[in-house]
Amino acid sequence: MKSDFKVSSLTSALRRRGGNVLSDLVVIALLLLICFLLSSMHVGKDVRRARGKSVKKEALDEFVNIRLDHRRQLTTDEPLAADEEFPEAPIRVHAVGLKEVNWYFAALTGSFDKCYDQGYLDRSLRCEYIQESEHFTAADVVVFRATYLDQSPLAKAVLEDPNRPPNQWWVFFDNEPPYKVWKYSNLANYKGVFNLTATYSLSSDVPRFDMRRLKHCVRSQKRYNTLKGIDYTKKKRNGTAVAWLASECNTQSKRENYVKELQKHIDVDVYGECGPLKCGSRSLNTWSKDRCHDKLLHQKGSYKFYLSFENSLCKDYVTEKLWMLMKMDIVPVVMGLVDYSNMLPKDSYIDVRDFPSPAALANYLKFLDENPAMYNEYIRNKNSLICYLKYPYMPWECTLCERMHELRGTRGIVYDVGKFWGSSQCLSPKQFFAKPVADDEFDV
Ligand SMILES: *[C@@H]1O[C@H](CO)[C@@H](O)[C@H](O)[C@H]1NC(C)=O
Ligand SMILES: *[C@@H]1O[C@H](CO)[C@@H](O)[C@H](O)[C@H]1NC(C)=O
Repeated sequence: MKSDFKVSSLTSALRRRGGNVLSDLVVIALLLLICFLLSSMHVGKDVRRARGKSVKKEALDEFVNIRLDHRRQLTTDEPLAADEEFPEAPIRVHAVGLKEVNWYFAALTGSFDKCYDQGYLDRSLRCEYIQESEHFTAADVVVFRATYLDQSPLAKAVLEDPNRPPNQWWVFFDNEPPYKVWKYSNLANYKGVFNLTATYSLSSDVPRFDMRRLKHCVRSQKRYNTLKGIDYTKKKRNGTAVAWLASECNTQSKRENYVKELQKHIDVDVYGECGPLKCGSRSLNTWSKDRCHDKLLHQKGSYKFYLSFENSLCKDYVTEKLWMLMKMDIVPVVMGLVDYSNMLPKDSYIDVRDFPSPAALANYLKFLDENPAMYNEYIRNKNSLICYLKYPYMPWECTLCERMHELRGTRGIVYDVGKFWGSSQCLSPKQFFAKPVADDEFDV
């Protein structure tokens, strides 16, 4: 719509010039160019023609299609068949190396029913799973768990089968950040093997919108007013002000080193696997049963600051932990490869990247610790926020189903999956701290 508007105002401006033959020729040439541009824009629409109506599609359109167009050279070998030629034909999906892995993928071995029952997809966009007993060649789509490419006998059998149907889509799927996948699979060996990518990253062809945890938060003045005059410091423990709890102690983000450095300048109590303290039972499995987060971060005797550090500095990789803190009377200190200021107002959290060193951060935390009014304001600001998901939630299998209907009759290749899911997705801690935050660079 935007471009149509621009085009019409441009042509009328040109027409107004009128007069000599030369300018008429220029106008005609420009019009031809514009027609060409407009018609090529419509090709994209045709690809999407087959889709029915579904709820919450805008984000998909906006982010996925743009991506796909410039990341892959999708070519249509023959003109797209008319919709009527496959009136109700479902897309048949086969998953390899998922079921044998773990419970995480239970969703992928079930059915697509919830996509329709819960209104994510129109019923005309049918998809079904094919049984493991059926040969993979019966499927339209085969989903591979990337981490197990080198190891799964099932995956190997399919990968090496010479009868791969030329119209079948192979999907590179994983929920782990790149360096974890590389630990098990040498992705350099899979050049030109896959047709689509599916990860938590928005740069995937079929992004995991079920794993997306980017939100944006807006301040509610009404809430802010109701929180006037509360002294949160009264219920906070005396002594150590900063707490960290973690289960993974040797991470890509090297957050453990940052914490060690921080501890040289301010006391930090460390819970879980990476420190001496425990809450309830030491096992993190009983953590929620023992209501540890509440005890340590919210209730009487809780800490003032909580280190919400991601274990991976990979773009788009944010875990749930930050959002859990939104309802608690605690000030989050964050570390992650996202632009937090795009999600939360700056006055409601503390970003390690705003400080030149752990020492500088420690000084600021000490300063707040000694200034109850300023400390309270952080919590009041944070607790006044109302947060929304930046991208609508959609179970992944529904995203896949919708996408495959759109792509029907087209082809695509992932030329270098190792490069796609490679080091370019993550920053080392050194690069991370050297680089100014710029979410747009990663997220659009
Ligand atoms: C901290 O110390 C002050 C003063 O000694 C006391 O009034 C307050 O109750 C203590 N806070 C907690 C959570 O024990
Ligand atoms: C998927 O990629 C393979 C290997 O490059 C290719 O032979 C096949 O035609 C592609 N399938 C689709 C549906 O694009």
